[in-house]
Amino acid sequence: MSGRFISFEGIDGAGKSTHLEWYAERLREAGRDVLLTREPGGTGLAEALRALLLDEPMDAQTELLLMFAARRDHLERRLRPALAAGTWVVCDRFTDSTLAYQGAGRGGSVKRIHVLADWVHGDLWPDRTYLFDLPAEEALRRRTLARPADRFEAEDLAFFERVRAGYQAQAAAEPERFVVIDAAQDIDRIRSLLAADCARIR
Ligand code: TMP
Repeated sequence: MSGRFISFEGIDGAGKSTHLEWYAERLREAGRDVLLTREPGGTGLAEALRALLLDEPMDAQTELLLMFAARRDHLERRLRPALAAGTWVVCDRFTDSTLAYQGAGRGGSVKRIHVLADWVHGDLWPDRTYLFDLPAEEALRRRTLARPADRFEAEDLAFFERVRAGYQAQAAAEPERFVVIDAAQDIDRIRSLLAADCARIR
C-alpha cells in the first residue's frame, strides 16, 4: 500500500497557496487520506530551519545545504511514513523549487543539486507536479499586495525571471509528471483544471 506524492510549484506570488487546501479537500472527498504539508517545513526541525532560511543572511551554499537538511528531516519523519501508510501527500514545494531557486535563480550547480537530491531522497520524486506559471512582473504585483518580503521575495525581477525559466525547462523535460497551469486565469478555471487532473491520478 503506497500513497501518491503531489507537489505544487511556482514563483512567489503565482498563487499556488490559494489552491492547496482546496485541492487536498477534493482528494479527501474522493475518499483519500491526505497529508497537506510544505517545504521547507513540515516538522518542528524543518520549520525552525525554514525561519532561518527565509530571514537570516547566509551564503548560497549554506542555503542549499539547509534546504536539503530540512527536506531530509521532513522526508524521514513525515513524508515517507505517510506514503507508506497509503496517505496521499500534497506538498507545497519540493526539490523542483531547489532546482529553480538555488539552481536557475542563484546560478548554483544543477549537477550538485542532483547529487544532493539522490543522497537525500533517491528516486522518490512526486507522482504529479502542478507548476503555477505566471510572468515575474505580474507575480511581483500580486506579492506587494500581500505581506512584507522575506529573503527570497526581496530578490529582483531578473531573479524571478530566471526561476520561472528554470521551472519551464524542468516541466518541458518531464511532461508526464508536470502539469503547467497558466496562473493568470481566473480561480474557477484553475480549479476545474485541477479537479479534472486530480481525478485522473491513479
Ligand atoms: P513558500 O513561501 O512558497 O512556502 O516558499 C518559501 C520560499 O522558499 C520561497 O521563496 C521559495 C524558497 N525555496 C527555495 O528557494 N528552495 C527550495 O528548495 C524550497 C522548498 C523553497
